[in-house]
Amino acid sequence: MWRSLALAAALGTAVAAHAQQEVEVPKTPGWELIMRCVICHSVEIAVQQRFGPQGWSETLDRMIKYGAPIPPEDKAQLMAYLLRHYRDPAGR
Ligand code: HEC
Repeated sequence: MWRSLALAAALGTAVAAHAQQEVEVPKTPGWELIMRCVICHSVEIAVQQRFGPQGWSETLDRMIKYGAPIPPEDKAQLMAYLLRHYRDPAGR
């Protein structure tokens, strides 16, 4: 718990430093949900990774555990969005 709070605090500082150079995400259905990731860290961090379905599912579950406001129906839409644009074809 303390570890993730400390990390969130560290990320907060990083977000402030990067506020002026946010990355753009493709505006296909579900993109608005990415704005919920920005509560804790930059869009850049949210979309830096390339995963397959299992990797994204586990990552989103971890964010939900940290407190991300993502109910199951939104998770499904986020998964579809992330796998459309940020998929590692060889990944899990
Ligand atoms: C409640 C706070 C919170 C929200 C909301 C949140 N995250 Fe995170 N995220 C974190 C923290 C803390 C870390 C750093 C610790 C870690 O990696 O587990 C992180 C790290 C990450 C990483 C890098 C870790 C890795 O495995 O490479 C990715 C990717 C990520 N988040 C994606 C997302 C996405 C996508 C969303 C929106 C759907 C999101 N996050 C929303 C707290 C949050």
